[in-house]
Amino acid sequence: MASNRLDELRRRHARAEQGGGPERKDRQHREGKLSARERIDLLLDEGAFEELDKLVRHRCYNFGAQHTMVDGDGFITGHGLVHGRQVFVFAQDFTVFGGSLSEANAQKIVKLMDLALKTGAPVIGLNDSGGARIQEGVVSLAGYADIFLRNTLSSGVVPQISAIMGPCAGGAVYSPALTDFVFMVDRTSHMFVTGPDVIKTVTHEDVTKETLGGASTHNVTSGVAHFLAANDEDCLRRIRELMTFLPQNNLDGVPRVPTSDPETRADPALDTLIPLESNKPYDIKDVICRVIDDGNFFEVSEQFAANIVIGFARMAGETIGVVANQPAHLAGCLDIDSSIKGARFVRFCDAFQIPILTFEDVPGFLPGTAQEFGGVIRHGAKLLYAYAEATVPKITVITRKAYGGAYCVMGSKHLRTDVNFAYPTAEIAVMGPEGAVNILYRRELQASSSPDQDRQAKIDEYRDRFANPFVAAERGYVDDVIEPRETRAKVIRALRMLAGKGDTMPRKKHGNIPL
Ligand code: HXC
Repeated sequence: MASNRLDELRRRHARAEQGGGPERKDRQHREGKLSARERIDLLLDEGAFEELDKLVRHRCYNFGAQHTMVDGDGFITGHGLVHGRQVFVFAQDFTVFGGSLSEANAQKIVKLMDLALKTGAPVIGLNDSGGARIQEGVVSLAGYADIFLRNTLSSGVVPQISAIMGPCAGGAVYSPALTDFVFMVDRTSHMFVTGPDVIKTVTHEDVTKETLGGASTHNVTSGVAHFLAANDEDCLRRIRELMTFLPQNNLDGVPRVPTSDPETRADPALDTLIPLESNKPYDIKDVICRVIDDGNFFEVSEQFAANIVIGFARMAGETIGVVANQPAHLAGCLDIDSSIKGARFVRFCDAFQIPILTFEDVPGFLPGTAQEFGGVIRHGAKLLYAYAEATVPKITVITRKAYGGAYCVMGSKHLRTDVNFAYPTAEIAVMGPEGAVNILYRRELQASSSPDQDRQAKIDEYRDRFANPFVAAERGYVDDVIEPRETRAKVIRALRMLAGKGDTMPRKKHGNIPL
């Protein structure tokens, strides 16, 4: 009897491990995709996976579904380790009913997410699915809603990461959209609410799957995805790398990765990296990499709204979030997309106790009807709100321009930033010298016999009076004007000083960030 049971168990486990069978697995490989189990093996530390609910079966007898009864029902769920730290993981197996969501496998995910919430560990979802299981109807939709609820309740408590490694369509997209970071694999992954056929019928637009919802579209244009991976292996390797920066949950504190990079390392190249001409572009990532540990910057949303740079780094071994205007793109202006990108990142860092280091070089908000009609007021307010609300240690370094409203937004002292530094090249004023002189002296210059000469004289005068860091420093709006070479040492000391920081919000249910 006991041996019969053992045989039965082994048979069922083997059946679960086969998924939809070798032919469908081969098809998966031919399309450049790994199988769900191969993905989990690459994602987790070797031999660390503990599968849950491997024996779960669906309960559907419609449209021939009873003939495909695969143990585990096509979703592989369980827990394991990434770099020795606990994570929960699920992978949709496209070889079983196209990885579609049934009542049974939705319950597997719900169980997993509830466990993750109770134990305080991140959830990683590997998506490759045809969406709601058509044979099951509303119970499948109910399963999605159950997952969306868990995504929302877990938001800000445990990190949630989604990898799109195949189709992800219809309402199914909203689970990844609710998670913190979305990876997409180039060419083999697609995300859209309505596919090309429906679009053709409704709007008569002709669009391919790739253009509509491919990895490039969502990394470059829509901003739905944060990372573009070359293939499955690259995707899983980068998720593992991201995990090294993230805390386990909102109470855990950031992980520590020892470094041999000296804390007081001075970098003379920083002294000349910021051009003296205020309109000359430079790459802010060169500054970031010279300041952080080992030049190791893990950039997020690299291809979307490149006028702001966000990402994770470490200072003296501990994770920080970096937010920086990028003068090499749109002169570092803030606009709708960059405000949204920056705001979401600031809120992630704040939720998970990750200190925020801001590098500021911003001429202001991007002017134009496209921006105004698109609601730059509402969207710009998101970034302002996020900075103001954040209670984690906040440090800002003004490298060059800090003009107008953008000065206020980018981690200014007035939004309770703890330590504000400025480089000698900083220009802090209501607007740039040219614009200011044109407004203040328009009539005078119109009447002048040598307008160009007079304009230049006024510009120089304005620059001396306002466009420097000293007026702000005299008022304590910047705590110190520092030599760029000492940035690393100064920031690390500030972070140490702020290690015990406690700041609060007034009692409320939640705020009403302008969405
Ligand atoms: C059940 C499904 C399925 C589904 C695919 N399959 N999608 N079974 N429910 N949703 C099965 C197919 O019957 C096939 O089974 C196998 O998976 C592989 O599918 P193919 O079509 O052969 O693969 P491919 O050509 O690569 O096309 C993949 C696909 C396509 C683009 C995903 O299958 C497709 O369009 N599926 C339907 C997508 C969809 O409309 N889903 C509902 C969306 S609405 P066999 O046995 O032949 O291997 C939704 C609502 C969520 O999800 C709401 C949340 C609020």
